[in-house]
Amino acid sequence: MLNNSPDRWGLAARLMHGIGLVLIFILVIHGWWMTQFASPSGRPDQYAWHASFGYAVLLLTALRLAWRSQGAAPLPPEGTTKSERNLAWLGHMGLYLLTLGTAVQGWALAGTFSTPLDARLLGFIPMPMIMSGQSLHEPLIRIHTLFAWSLAALVLVHILAALYHQFFKKDGLFRRMFW
Ligand code: HEM
Ligand code: HEM
Repeated sequence: MLNNSPDRWGLAARLMHGIGLVLIFILVIHGWWMTQFASPSGRPDQYAWHASFGYAVLLLTALRLAWRSQGAAPLPPEGTTKSERNLAWLGHMGLYLLTLGTAVQGWALAGTFSTPLDARLLGFIPMPMIMSGQSLHEPLIRIHTLFAWSLAALVLVHILAALYHQFFKKDGLFRRMFW
């Protein structure tokens, strides 16, 4: 039940995909809101809140990849062409890499504030800072922003691909990841 089988994702993979999905949506929407609309006095709290969620995504993605390396993924549904299979592989790899990249850059950015962001993993585990000093603050903001929006764009493509499978190919791909 926990493990993947040849025709469906196991409970562990489905749960981690579902939690990751919700966290990424929150991070992108809240990240955009806090940089555009949060009041200057409330901003440090919002940034710390965002960072805690970002650390959770980093942990979850590491767990997900570790779990993924333990068992084979389900086989592609019948009728999947070789180019569709390659595109899916490329897209999924891109999602993993952009998620990890965005989260690690955010973590580096956290140490470059004049007062480093005091955010905790899961609300209580303090995180060591992996970068200090303010010289890379602006470049890190730019690269974190670029990665975050590239991730959001790739998630959109990923959702469109899932809808294509659901409504045009009708091959059950959507169902095997959600229930
Ligand atoms: C995959 C995880 C993450 C996603 C999807 C994400 C997404 C975003 C987005 C969409 C923004 C707004 C960009 C804009 O201005 O348009 C943002 C800003 C920011 N993020 Fe993240 N983030 C993630 C992880 C993290 C982590 C782990 C930290 C810190 C530990 C962090 C710290 C920040 C900070 C400080 C800003 C504000 C930058 C500024 O002042 O403009 N983020 N993030
Ligand atoms: C409403 C949003 C989403 C939908 C409908 C959706 C749908 C799906 C479906 C149906 C699959 C299974 C593909 C297969 O069986 O071959 C899948 C896999 C995957 N999804 Fe999503 N997804 C969504 C959001 C996300 C988000 C936000 C991420 C985060 C980065 C993500 C990352 C992945 C990855 C990495 C895989 C491949 C799993 C693996 O091979 O290890 N998805 N998704």
